[in-house]
Amino acid sequence: MVEKNSLPKILILGGKGLLGSEMARVLTANGYAVKTASHAELDITKGMEVAVWIERLQPEIVINCAALSDVDFCEKNPDLAFKVNAEGVKNICLPLQEIGGRLIHISSDYVFDGKKKSPYVETDLVSPVNIYGKSKLKGEEYVQKILPQSFIVRVQWLYGAHGKNFASQLVRTITTGEVMGPYSLILDRVGTPTPVGVIANVVPRMMTLREGGLFHLSARGGCSWVEFGKAVFEINSRKDFDRWVRAVTEIQNLRLAQRPPYSVLSSDFFERTFQYEFSHWTEALSNVIHYFK
Ligand SMILES: NC(=O)c1ccc[n+]([C@@H]2O[C@H](COP(=O)([O-])OP(=O)(O)OC[C@H]3O[C@@H](n4cnc5c(N)ncnc54)[C@H](OP(=O)(O)O)[C@@H]3O)[C@@H](O)[C@H]2O)c1
Repeated sequence: MVEKNSLPKILILGGKGLLGSEMARVLTANGYAVKTASHAELDITKGMEVAVWIERLQPEIVINCAALSDVDFCEKNPDLAFKVNAEGVKNICLPLQEIGGRLIHISSDYVFDGKKKSPYVETDLVSPVNIYGKSKLKGEEYVQKILPQSFIVRVQWLYGAHGKNFASQLVRTITTGEVMGPYSLILDRVGTPTPVGVIANVVPRMMTLREGGLFHLSARGGCSWVEFGKAVFEINSRKDFDRWVRAVTEIQNLRLAQRPPYSVLSSDFFERTFQYEFSHWTEALSNVIHYFK
């Protein structure tokens, strides 16, 4: 049993976001002394302010969930994307280096181009196809250079019971019956939908590793968005999938930013390192759906 006061003091940036808020909830429930900073409270592009927060709070660990996560917005605003997702990360690394703190930095499957046909491992070559991915990669590079003992955690296709992004709303509205369809779901993009709780729950385990590292964290398996939607209907015993879902190809769905067609992440390295087994995405989805019932 770990003594409560021996647990590290944690600062979560982007603490009001989808992952940041779940991270705060889970770590607080596990007895950690958690302080969160929302975007309104602390803008990570303001280096001086980030330094003041870190020097005042002296956190042993900072978890950076702050990011410009809207992929098409990043494509339209490349300067801002790099300012937040890359320079913002550098702003966190520098004062943390000064106080000897560690960083858990959240990154993305979008550092890959999606040309692979089997799950991406940590040693695979990175080659982002859009501005968001390029800016996230630059952020990773700052962490590796300035704080090599830290963690870089690549995640993908996140959703949560309280989330506002598309995947979260899809699950919530179909489950609660306030269907807001028709939903256009992509047929030819494959990844692994992963509830934020699945990520947040393994962070205490990860923090026990002194040397840090690069880890892919996701539920097991993979699917297209259409298959994900079908599973949401099936788990809810709904027979009206065809009425509400329109399957579209990536080309039909033309968006500003190109997306990797395949970005399943292999969590094998994490599982081997920590003797842990992630749940399959369908099981993780069932758990989120049962939360509403
Ligand atoms: N969601 C996914 O499927 C997914 C996939 C791969 C990787 N990720 C990564 O996972 C992490 C968490 O993402 P998320 O899904 O939780 O996204 P999110 O809900 O958009 O959370 C990001 C948070 O960062 C805040 N933020 C934006 N600009 C900021 C700034 N300059 N300073 C401080 N805070 C700022 C946002 O605040 P405002 O909204 O108020 O601006 C928001 O609360 C990010 O690193 C993201 O790149 C997410």
